[in-house]
Amino acid sequence: KATISPVLEEHLLAGLNLRHERDVPLGPMTWYGIGGPASILAHPSSVHQLAALAARCHETGTGVYVLGSGANVLIADKGVAGVVVRLDDPFFRRVSVEDHRVTAGAGVDLAKLILDTVRLGLGGLECLSGIPATIGGAVRMNAGGRFGSIGPTVRRLMVCDQSGQVYYRTREDLAFGYRSTNITARYILEAELELTPGDAKELRDRAKEIMASKKASQPMGDSSAGCAFKNPPPRAGGETLSAGKLIDQAGLKGFRIGGAEVSPRHANFIVAHRGCTCGDVLRVLEHVRDRVRERFGVELEREIVVWP
Ligand code: EPU
Repeated sequence: KATISPVLEEHLLAGLNLRHERDVPLGPMTWYGIGGPASILAHPSSVHQLAALAARCHETGTGVYVLGSGANVLIADKGVAGVVVRLDDPFFRRVSVEDHRVTAGAGVDLAKLILDTVRLGLGGLECLSGIPATIGGAVRMNAGGRFGSIGPTVRRLMVCDQSGQVYYRTREDLAFGYRSTNITARYILEAELELTPGDAKELRDRAKEIMASKKASQPMGDSSAGCAFKNPPPRAGGETLSAGKLIDQAGLKGFRIGGAEVSPRHANFIVAHRGCTCGDVLRVLEHVRDRVRERFGVELEREIVVWP
C-alpha cells in the first residue's frame, strides 16, 4: 500500500484547520469503484486552505490529485501516496446567476447545473446531458460529445497553480480542444460561464433527447469510466475514425481479463465486474491498444486518467 510518513503528514496539515481523512479507499468515490486508498483526503473549505495545502505539497514534492466526480479516473490497486483534494465543501459548490452569466464553484455537480440552467431558460449546457462530472472536472477535460462541449461557454476561470498562486484565466487566452484544454494550473476553483437565453421547454426536450440517445448506445448502468480511448484524429483524407468502431471491428467486444470486460454494448467502454482490479482494466486497455494497432495501424490514446 502506498503511504506517506507521519512527519510529512503533520507538516502538510499543521495549523490549516483543514477537514481531512487518512487512508481513505478511493474506489467508492469513482465510477469504476476500484483501486486503493489515498494517504490523505482533504476537503478545503476556502481558497486560502487550498492554496496553503498546494504550496506545502509543492515544496515537499508530495503528489497531489484533484478528484471531481470520479467519472474519468482509474485508481491504482496500491492507491495514491499523497494528497487527494475534493472540492466538495459547500464553499466550492456555490452557484450564482446574473442575466445569462453563471458562476459555479469547481465542486458543483454538472447534471444539477444543467437542470437549473435549463429551467431558467439558459442554453449551452444541455448538450452535456448524461455526462457525469463536476464543473472543475468538466472544464479541465473539456467534457463533451457529439452534441457539444463545455469549452465554448467558458468566459473566465479562477485557478490555483501547484505552488499556490491564485489567478484568473480569461476566454482570450484559453484554448479548448477535443477532450483537452491549455489550462496548466493544477486546481480550477470557479468557472464563469456565458450561456444563451432560450426557451426552457425546448432546452429541456433537447436535454432529454441527448440523454435518451446516450442511454440507447452506451452501457450507462455499468461500472466504467466512460469512453476508454479518445477518438483518433481524422485521417489525411478527412476520414473520421471512431475508437469504439475500431475496437468493435477488431472483434474485441466481450473480451475479458479477470473482472474487466470490453462492453458488448459499446466497444469503447471497459466495464468492471465484481472483483475487478485496476490491473485487470490496465491489461484489457493494453490488449485493446495492441490489437487495434496491429489490425488498423492506429495508435489509440487513452482518455481514462490513471492515478498515480
Ligand atoms: N460504433 C460501433 N461499435 C461500437 C461503438 C460504436 O460500430 O461498439 C460506431 C457507432 O455505430 C458510430 C460510431 O462508432 O457509427 C461512433 O460511436 P458513438 O456514436 O457511440 O460515438 P463515440 O464517438 O464512440 C463520442 C464520445 C462519447 C460521447 C458520444 C456521444 C469519444 C471518445 N466519445 O462517442 O464520450 O458520449 O460521442 O456524444 O469522444 C466519454 O468521453 O467518456 C464518452 C463516452
